[in-house]
Amino acid sequence: MIKAAIIGLGVIGEVHLSVITSLENARLIAVCDTDKAKQKKIPPGTLFYSSVEEFLQREKPDVVHICLPHYLHYPVAQKIAEAGFNIFTEKPLALNAAEGREYCGLEKRYGVKICLCLQNRLNNTTEVLYNLLRSGEYGEVTGIRGSVAWYRSKAYYEAGPWRGVMAQSGGGCMINQAIHTLDLMRYFAGSPVKSVKGNIGQILDYGLEVEDTASARINFENGAAGLFTASVANFADESVEINVRCEKAGFVLRDQKLFKVENGGEALLASDSDAYAGKKVYGNSHGKLIDQFYRALETGEGSWIHPEEGMPSLRIIDAIRKSSSTGETVEFDVEPF
Ligand SMILES: NC(=O)c1ccc[n+]([C@@H]2O[C@H](COP(=O)([O-])OP(=O)(O)OC[C@H]3O[C@@H](n4cnc5c(N)ncnc54)[C@H](O)[C@@H]3O)[C@@H](O)[C@H]2O)c1
Repeated sequence: MIKAAIIGLGVIGEVHLSVITSLENARLIAVCDTDKAKQKKIPPGTLFYSSVEEFLQREKPDVVHICLPHYLHYPVAQKIAEAGFNIFTEKPLALNAAEGREYCGLEKRYGVKICLCLQNRLNNTTEVLYNLLRSGEYGEVTGIRGSVAWYRSKAYYEAGPWRGVMAQSGGGCMINQAIHTLDLMRYFAGSPVKSVKGNIGQILDYGLEVEDTASARINFENGAAGLFTASVANFADESVEINVRCEKAGFVLRDQKLFKVENGGEALLASDSDAYAGKKVYGNSHGKLIDQFYRALETGEGSWIHPEEGMPSLRIIDAIRKSSSTGETVEFDVEPF
């Protein structure tokens, strides 16, 4: 039985809580949140702490879920790893690539296991497309377009003021909403990034420090060309769309479905289930990834998404930001990083 705990019971912490309490091989032993009002949201029999330090001194969980504002991901992970506990952490890995590199050392330094929540890699449609692309049947990937068009109201930033403060969030729509799309673009390209040129800005007048809109050309080492667009200034949350063009075929991920583009039309290849633990835009793979990680913890076998996997998207975000301020193309050093 995996003894689990959650630090940060906000919007996504509640999704983790519902997954953990639905697993037969897991027990939620504690929740930690500085907001004491969150205690009323926890199931009976679960302990509540309002201090991370006190929680770490008193409890001996097998895994701790980090569901905190971005600036707390690395410092809190460092404390948990030092205490010898495994970690399931929400994205992004860290505020930027420099902090991410520090994070990547934690598994080895403290002998703990850390899983990064890039849950969309486990969507059925993602897995089918990834396997088709890597099969070689359709030739090389030549182009990828990823677009995110969502809406975040002023109230969203007021409910979590850290989201609009650069030092606490590390940015806006790129690191908060579109990081999954950047991750999948790099994942589907199957190649390191060569160079990035991009632009960011604010088109909603909220007076925040972070971007609400971004666009970039991402050139991959294998010659594939990427176009990334992201905005939370849309009229609503529309489906993320990822188009992948190969030498011999084209594919589109949209509305939790995967299509093959052929004869001027689209043929359905795969769908995701529509049982969501949280908002539809989070997808439905939080449960799948948590379950996979817990099985690896229990059996000592199996894979999970390691912190290093979170680095390419952080590097792309840093590069888009830099390119936007200098007006220049940012060339990449060879991965890993
Ligand atoms: N994987 C996904 O699809 C997905 C979706 C949404 C959010 N997220 C990520 O989840 C994380 C949390 O986002 P959110 O929207 O739930 O934020 P939120 O602001 O709703 O929740 C954060 C919680 O952390 C608590 N907290 C703050 N400082 C604390 C501290 N020092 N100790 C203990 N508790 C503390 C707050 O009181 C709050 O309850 C972010 O990293 C976000 O990017 C991931």
